[in-house]
Amino acid sequence: MRNWLKKLENSRQNRSFVPRAAQLMRQPNPVKGVDISEDMLKQARHSDNTTSYRLIESAKIPANANEYDLVFSSLVLFEISSKDELTRIFNEINRVLKTGGIFIAVTGSTEMYNHEWLSLGIDYDENKNLESGSIAKILLRDINLELYDFFWTHDDYSEIITESKFTLLDKQFPLGDSQDGYKWVSETAVSPYVVYVLKKCSDS
Ligand SMILES: C[S@@+](CC[C@H](N)C(=O)[O-])C[C@H]1O[C@@H](n2cnc3c(N)ncnc32)[C@H](O)[C@@H]1O
Repeated sequence: MRNWLKKLENSRQNRSFVPRAAQLMRQPNPVKGVDISEDMLKQARHSDNTTSYRLIESAKIPANANEYDLVFSSLVLFEISSKDELTRIFNEINRVLKTGGIFIAVTGSTEMYNHEWLSLGIDYDENKNLESGSIAKILLRDINLELYDFFWTHDDYSEIITESKFTLLDKQFPLGDSQDGYKWVSETAVSPYVVYVLKKCSDS
C-alpha cells in the first residue's frame, strides 16, 4: 500500500492521478474511469488509451449493483459542495461495489489549509476560520493556478462513512521524506492529503 501510494504521489508530475492509477490497478479485471467533466476525460484518454473513460452525472455510476471489487477516487471529494451530495456519492459507490469491496479515496486533509506547503499556497483570507462546507482557496504553485475547493473535516467524512454503511479500514496521511529530493516545507510532519480505505461489509 505504501509503495503504491508513493507511485501515485510521483505520478502527480503528470498532473492527473487517474491514468496512472488505472495502470497500477489493472488486474485481470477491466478498469473504468469516470468524471463529470468531458475535458478531464479527454486528458485521461490522451495519457492512457487502454482504459475506458466515461462521462457521468454526479452520484450516478453506470454499473450494476455489486459489480466492482475496487473504486478509487482521486482528489474529487473536496470538490463536492454539500454533505448530502457527498453522501449520495458514497451510497452510489457502495451500491456498485461487491460485498467485501474496497473504496479508496484521496482527498484534502483537515490540515490542508492551515500549513505552508512546497507546491500549494494557502495564505488567503478565505482560509481563515474555515468551517465544514466553507469555500477554501488554494494556489497550485507549479502552474500558478488559483482554485476553490470545499473544506470538509475528518468528522464530516466519518459521519458520511457511517451513513453510507462503509467500514473504515485505514486512514493514511502520506508524508514527504527528506530523501525525496524536494524542499518540503511542512510535508515531512503533516500531510495535506488523507487517504481513506473503506470496505463494504454487507449488501444493504
Ligand atoms: C482536482 S481534479 C482531480 C482529477 C483527477 N481525478 C486526478 O486525480 O487527477 C477534480 C476532478 O473531480 C471531478 N469532479 C467534480 N465533481 C465530481 C462528481 N460529483 N463526480 C465525479 N467527478 C467529479 C472534476 O470534474 C475534476 O476532474
